[in-house]
Amino acid sequence: MSSTIKKLSSYQVLAKHFDDINSHTLRELFTQDEGRFSKFSVQFEGLLFDYSKNRITKDTVAKLIALFNECDVDAWREKMFAGEKINSTENRGVQHTALRDLENKNSEIANKQIDALKKIESFIAKLKKSNITDVVNIGIGGSHLGPQFVCDALREYSSSNLNVHFVANVDAEEINRVLETLNPKNTMFIVTSKSFTTQETLTNSITARSWLALDINLKNQDHFVAVTANVKKATEFGIAEENIFPMWDEIGGRYSLWSAVGLSIAVKIGMENFRELLKGAHAMDQHFFDTPADENIPVLMALLDIWNQHFLNTTAHAILPYDVRLTYLPAYLQQLVMESNGKSVDRQGNKLAVASSAILFGDVGTNAQHSFFQLLHQGTQLVSCDFIGIAKPSHDNYAQHEILLANMIGQTQALMMGQSLEEAGDEHKVFSGNRASNTIFLSQLTPYSLGMLLAIYEHRTFVHGALLNINSFDQMGVELGKRLANKLLDKIRNESVTGEDSSTSGLIDFYKQNN
Ligand code: F6P
Repeated sequence: MSSTIKKLSSYQVLAKHFDDINSHTLRELFTQDEGRFSKFSVQFEGLLFDYSKNRITKDTVAKLIALFNECDVDAWREKMFAGEKINSTENRGVQHTALRDLENKNSEIANKQIDALKKIESFIAKLKKSNITDVVNIGIGGSHLGPQFVCDALREYSSSNLNVHFVANVDAEEINRVLETLNPKNTMFIVTSKSFTTQETLTNSITARSWLALDINLKNQDHFVAVTANVKKATEFGIAEENIFPMWDEIGGRYSLWSAVGLSIAVKIGMENFRELLKGAHAMDQHFFDTPADENIPVLMALLDIWNQHFLNTTAHAILPYDVRLTYLPAYLQQLVMESNGKSVDRQGNKLAVASSAILFGDVGTNAQHSFFQLLHQGTQLVSCDFIGIAKPSHDNYAQHEILLANMIGQTQALMMGQSLEEAGDEHKVFSGNRASNTIFLSQLTPYSLGMLLAIYEHRTFVHGALLNINSFDQMGVELGKRLANKLLDKIRNESVTGEDSSTSGLIDFYKQNN
């Protein structure tokens, strides 16, 4: 059976509405209504969400909200916050919001989180008094992307002289590059792996352990800690039980930076700032939970995703932070969004008959303007965009900062307005315009505002999944590749290659001939 949102009456109303307004360009909509910005923007605690440069009217928003209601997203949201087992394929609750709801005495996860934070705090205090100068987080996916992004984004909040490094890739080149700058005596490894079975993380940890053994005076137990839900495997690896920080089933890897998975973040920015990050995310959780749909930032964003993908036929979505502090945001969001909603079946296992997750990509502005923006402006495929800016820079070079932000705003205007043949005088210089973008503008980048920003994207992903009746919290699609890699490893190492397709054996043979 195929499952489709298309059958819903609110969706059919939207399809009809699209036909009615399709002939109106964004440029016209702005010319006709000077109040467009105030109608289509929301401010929340120093964060501005401007969605006026989408091809919508007030009527479109009302009709999208009818879809939100018909899909019962409200009920799903309540279930998530109540800890119900909405991750049905894994029979688990989804509780990352509880990690930042520290006043909630009734939440088991919140109570465990309070204890974990205490443990992190005393670990950091001890670390600061020790001779450790460098901390290396070994982990991949959710055990890497969030912590690395936040550490880099908030580097101006560094609270100690401890350097934090990240090793994720099974390519030994990466760990070699990190280790060649370090001294075993002064190095602490954090093995971050919810499952403690991830090939990349275990392989790198074994390499790290051998490197440490080069100094015979050092004891593994003084240089390794773990963050994991699998205490047994971590102790088998040789990590002392008291050096293991917890993870819980209800926290998905890509939603885990708020937990002890964020240990490297806490090391980098200190406990107080880490708590601020949680507080900011909690403020956004409350906004998401309490605010009516027409003022609710994550809800509006997800509804616009549906509008752009399903009716305007956008094929991808670009994340465009105009601030070097947010360089790693696109990589982080790729996992969050595509691992959550890159699915082909709904909750009941029926095939989806519509697009699920957008293909997400991006890079920091202004660099991206000189690489793929050509396609955003003149390509035949439409790409919706999120521009993300920060009003207050991390430095006092306002001359450069103003150039940066003028570029960001100028790009949103160019995508919206375009340039007609009359204005351009040459077909090659015509810009169709009429291309959708959102702008998220933060007054400043603090741990608190970053927490809010990331929670917006988490909830937007949740709402998008709920609208499509997807389970956003499993990731079965990564398993097959892992299994095949293990099978082929044996063939690469030992056997002659038989029983594989000709491309697979050709690739393995080429490897063998060259080694
Ligand atoms: O790629 C699949 C995945 O399970 C991600 O969801 C997860 O973030 C990553 O691997 C790492 O998993 P772990 O923390 O268990 O090592």
